[in-house]
Amino acid sequence: MAVLITGIGELTTNTEDTGRVHDAAIVLDGDRVVWTGPAAKAPDADERVDVGGRAVLPGWVDSHTHLVFAGDRTAEFEARMAGAPYRAGGIATTVDATRAATDDELVANLRRHVDEAYAQGTTCLETKTGYGLTVPDEDRSARIAAEVVDEVTFLGAHLVPPGADAESYVDLVCGGMLDAVADRVRWVDVFCETGAFDEVQTARILAEATARGLGTRVHGNQLGEGPGVRLAVEHGSASVDHCTYLSDPDIEALAASDTVATVLPACDLSTRQPLAPARRLLDAGATVALASNANPGSSYTTSMAFCVATAVLQMGLSVDEAVRAATLGGARALRRDDVGVLREGARADLHVLDAPSVTHLAYRPGVPLTWGVWRRGQRLS
Ligand code: NIG
Repeated sequence: MAVLITGIGELTTNTEDTGRVHDAAIVLDGDRVVWTGPAAKAPDADERVDVGGRAVLPGWVDSHTHLVFAGDRTAEFEARMAGAPYRAGGIATTVDATRAATDDELVANLRRHVDEAYAQGTTCLETKTGYGLTVPDEDRSARIAAEVVDEVTFLGAHLVPPGADAESYVDLVCGGMLDAVADRVRWVDVFCETGAFDEVQTARILAEATARGLGTRVHGNQLGEGPGVRLAVEHGSASVDHCTYLSDPDIEALAASDTVATVLPACDLSTRQPLAPARRLLDAGATVALASNANPGSSYTTSMAFCVATAVLQMGLSVDEAVRAATLGGARALRRDDVGVLREGARADLHVLDAPSVTHLAYRPGVPLTWGVWRRGQRLS
């Protein structure tokens, strides 16, 4: 059934030939966009929805979350706000709670957070394993994630489980764990950082994933400069995420590569780190994605609008650059061309703001501006 979305005050399509356009219309059929153009030339459809002059843009593509988890880390957050540093070791708290949870509890918690994200305009979401860290627990996390979200990443290399030998654990990640999850996931990720996995271990896991035909991504340069960005580029990873501490060679390497630099401003703020140098990355010619990094430790928000507002107000991006990074940038980080864009053939994922312009995302920070969301052609309530 074709649905004509009309009365669009301002349309962001992310197609090459247009920026924001006015008096536009879109036709959806099934789960696809089948037409976009001037309202005056819109074809007939079975149903019309007049959005009353509001701004329409592609749904957010949140390319970095960790939402298969149980438990709560409020105390750790309070300690951080009182001056304690963020450390990778906090992950172990969530690992204990996740292992102790039932499947039903993990599914319910995941669905609750995904629904929260959808209600705020996210329509394509990646999530990771990484709070299991045993073969059965990682396999369970991958299975649950694959039931709920668009894109699943195996992050067995999130932390060496307390008490385990690092080299033996990397053997397990590259062997039995990958054997168990390989059919359920598209991506393999490694937390390359002091206190997590070092350069040699990271390179070994990325090479093993590539040899198995899986895509790779890297958590890199989150807590200090390090080899994460360089390794991601060398291994042809789709993205390197965090990018908080970058050297000039890191930025040059990203700009010369197909690896997307995914910045996570909510995490930088919540861990009291500097904000990632997104402006320098864009100026150098790198592709930048903005993502929420929703997780119970370092960034407990699903709000892509908050990330966009922060990118504009504090990181020096224009509104159009920030919106593009949170839609098309996320799609590129996931190597997808069907989301993050509104053109014929794209997935019918639309975000309608209760505002005349996307500029209001930064002009009215903190105000819930989502008026309507269509995901795969279905209007979400
Ligand atoms: O992307 N940096 C590693 N992993 C997550 C944090 C996970 C946690 O603290 O539970 C991140 O920030």
